[in-house]
Amino acid sequence: MKKVLIICYICIITSLPVIAQDNNFHPGEIWNDVDGKPINAHGGGILYDRGNYYWFGEIKSGKTVRVEEDKAWENFRVNAGGISCYSSKDLVHWKFESIALKPEVTDSTSEIYTGKVIERPKVVYNAKTKQYVMWMHIDSRNYGYARAGVAVSKTPQGPYKYLGAVRPNDAMSRDMTVFKDADGRAYLISTSENNQTMHVNLLSDDYLKPTTTFTRILIGQNREAPAVIKHGSKYYLVTSLCSGWDPNAARYATADSLLGKWTVQGNPCVGADSATTFQSQSAYIIPVASTNKYIFVADRWKKTDLPDSRYIWLPLTFDGDKMKVEWKDSWHL
Ligand code: GAL
Repeated sequence: MKKVLIICYICIITSLPVIAQDNNFHPGEIWNDVDGKPINAHGGGILYDRGNYYWFGEIKSGKTVRVEEDKAWENFRVNAGGISCYSSKDLVHWKFESIALKPEVTDSTSEIYTGKVIERPKVVYNAKTKQYVMWMHIDSRNYGYARAGVAVSKTPQGPYKYLGAVRPNDAMSRDMTVFKDADGRAYLISTSENNQTMHVNLLSDDYLKPTTTFTRILIGQNREAPAVIKHGSKYYLVTSLCSGWDPNAARYATADSLLGKWTVQGNPCVGADSATTFQSQSAYIIPVASTNKYIFVADRWKKTDLPDSRYIWLPLTFDGDKMKVEWKDSWHL
């Protein structure tokens, strides 16, 4: 105790910033886990389960290369490193738990081979089967495969068993999220029709398959990076425009039912840099347990050095039914 007081006193009198492991979010800065290693969980999704938050994300490490065959667009990539899982009780301090889904390192025909694409994992718990179900974007190196993959585990941190990937209702599926509603039904929301239109697919009761119940939304609007919440009686869907790793303006839409009519509302971001979503792209929105607070989770991609991409976590608030995300250099819940 005495030691802590002395350190605090020295920091105050010398005005040294106390940054290491404080209780604040520092959007865009390197974010270390509790062992002091940078968190490696990009395009992530957060699961709240029995008092713990679990953060699942793409493991990006190694050298970033540009796929030369894809001349028409900037296909910068790193080998698919699988899906990481971190846990936290306060959303600020994260402990590395596991590689929840390991990629296949030798068999190049596998859908989860390191030379392919495993992105945007989202995990939901199925109370009927007592399984944790992970959905993710599965693709080939040139993103032509365009499928949604699914994996299951008995525990949140895995290991997850990969079951395979599908084109829901024969339609392409790239950037995606999964939303579990209060009635226990879950939906896969993904960018389809060659990135032109989104599809909302009702999943089967065990969450392992898309059913034939689906709807086309944001038709011809070229939206991706979906993140969904329900606030009050409305559903809110935040998306980005499709511009690869480069940022653009976010937009949100609202609906009274997930399979119903979605109405475009505008950019939830305000202030400087709102036209680039603060140089980032949406990944998820966290409803903070036992509060009416939300956190907007986004990725600030660094396309020529993807492992150094940063996390932008900002408070997402409502003014009536208007959604708002504002920049903060540093903030706490
Ligand atoms: C973005 C997408 C990312 C990643 C990237 C590849 O449009 O949101 O998740 O797939 O393209 O260039």
